[in-house]
Amino acid sequence: MKKAALITGASSGIGAATAIEFSKNGYFVYLMGRNKERLEEVAMRCRSGASLMSCDMTDTKALDKRLSEMLTNKAHRIEVLVNNAGIFERHTTETGTDEIWMKQFEVNMLIPVRIVRAFFPYFKTHGGGSIVNVSSTLGIKPAAGTSAYSAVKAAMINWTQCLAQEGGPYKIRANAICPGIVDTPIHQFHSLPEAEKNKALESMQNLQPLGRIGTPDEIAKSIYFLGSDLSSWTTGAALAIDGGINLA
Ligand SMILES: NC(=O)c1ccc[n+]([C@@H]2O[C@H](COP(=O)([O-])OP(=O)(O)OC[C@H]3O[C@@H](n4cnc5c(N)ncnc54)[C@H](OP(=O)(O)O)[C@@H]3O)[C@@H](O)[C@H]2O)c1
Repeated sequence: MKKAALITGASSGIGAATAIEFSKNGYFVYLMGRNKERLEEVAMRCRSGASLMSCDMTDTKALDKRLSEMLTNKAHRIEVLVNNAGIFERHTTETGTDEIWMKQFEVNMLIPVRIVRAFFPYFKTHGGGSIVNVSSTLGIKPAAGTSAYSAVKAAMINWTQCLAQEGGPYKIRANAICPGIVDTPIHQFHSLPEAEKNKALESMQNLQPLGRIGTPDEIAKSIYFLGSDLSSWTTGAALAIDGGINLA
């Protein structure tokens, strides 16, 4: 039976690169996201087969339906879950409304929890599995003006460590990836005209000892490492892939 992976937020940035990386390594990939056209473009680049799971994950019924379709499909054995979909907003504690905090919590934390709740029985009956939660370097060392996002990403690391303990007896591994600044549409600078973007990138160079921000591919390779058997004895880790930003 062909091995498979679910990648959420696969229509863009890190999720798209991760889907392509798993596919290169022979995995059938389930691609979840809202933008169907972009999911189709990513699916075309996944040569080991892909299935589109387009839905707004905040729609609980739609999410449950997608998960149930996937987990009852006997054509594949799903070995890996990558909780990657996420949103980023800059707010201080003073400017972040209840609504902003609730949205951050819902998309970046509660939805991954719901997905894992659906996956646990499946992984238990199929001899194990691997969960990769995409947190952030801000979840390790927060920065002013990102309070809700940083707090939720820190919670995600803590939750991953709980999951690792709950899942261990069932051969379920759980690890977190903590990317630094990566060039994706989640950042405003990503879509600036070239000259302005280069200026913005230059201003960020010195934030990292390695002198530049990261690419989605660099994160995807690490997610593949934690998701696959390459890391068979690793669980509960929070791996920073960030050019050393927290050391600077
Ligand atoms: N880029 C960075 O610098 C950075 C740094 C640290 C951590 N991260 C984390 O990395 C992850 C991926 O971010 P990215 O940088 O690749 O950003 P991105 O390019 O904006 O991608 C975000 C993805 O999440 C999906 N998504 C968001 N809300 C959704 C919802 N309600 N339902 C379904 N899908 C939803 C988007 O789907 P649609 O586009 O189809 O709506 C998109 O595929 C996030 O968890 C982010 O917090 C990023």
